[in-house]
Amino acid sequence: MLADPYANTGPMILPSILSADFTKLGAEIGDVLAAGGDFLHCDVLDGHFAPNISFGPHVIEAARRATPCYLDCHLMITDPVRYADAMVKAGASSLTFHVEAVDDPAATARELRKRGCRVGVTLRPATPVEAVWPVLDLVDLVLVMSVVPGFSGQQFMPEVLPKCEAVKRRLRPDQRLEIDGGIKPANIRRAADAGVDWFVVASAIFDKPDRAAAVADLRRGLAGG
Ligand code: DX5
Ligand code: ZN
Repeated sequence: MLADPYANTGPMILPSILSADFTKLGAEIGDVLAAGGDFLHCDVLDGHFAPNISFGPHVIEAARRATPCYLDCHLMITDPVRYADAMVKAGASSLTFHVEAVDDPAATARELRKRGCRVGVTLRPATPVEAVWPVLDLVDLVLVMSVVPGFSGQQFMPEVLPKCEAVKRRLRPDQRLEIDGGIKPANIRRAADAGVDWFVVASAIFDKPDRAAAVADLRRGLAGG
């Protein structure tokens, strides 16, 4: 379990609590971290930016009470700056905003940075990679979405892998490349080969009864096995 993932290089597996059983969130978080998940991904959906509603600061605050680990928060919401203070107060370690959601991505990145958290930018599968170039120097993380934002359990879209390669070529060593959506043992190596550092995984961990076996399968996939 990592408090500051930027202190390390190498692949990280981030269980996304979107697929957790919320009747026992604390136990679920303990289980996936004990199973070898490196730190957590929190998918915030507002029902406007994407066609689903998940959770907000209240659940992030509960996750924070369940673990001291890094909480990587993916804001699939139309107004990320409006909710930034509440997210950070609740315990978010980083805030990743969608480039499609805002008029001025550079201004958004600077505003989020003022909250004292790490900052990421992300883009939908259909958004050209050039959309993130103006903000690249201002973020710690670029997240390439490999499914349409909204739900766990969708099919991986391999057509986003060239975007991963293009981003990776431009990132500094202190920045990270993340992928989110449809990651499984069978495709994780392809993403790694495209330069991805951090792998978000919801259903391929939470939907398995043995989470340690699920994480081990992903690491075997990463190793090419
Ligand atoms: C999609 C979310 C993803 C999703 C991943 O809107 O951003 O994090 O939960 O789920 P899986 O790993 O099941 O594709
Ligand atoms: Zn996500």
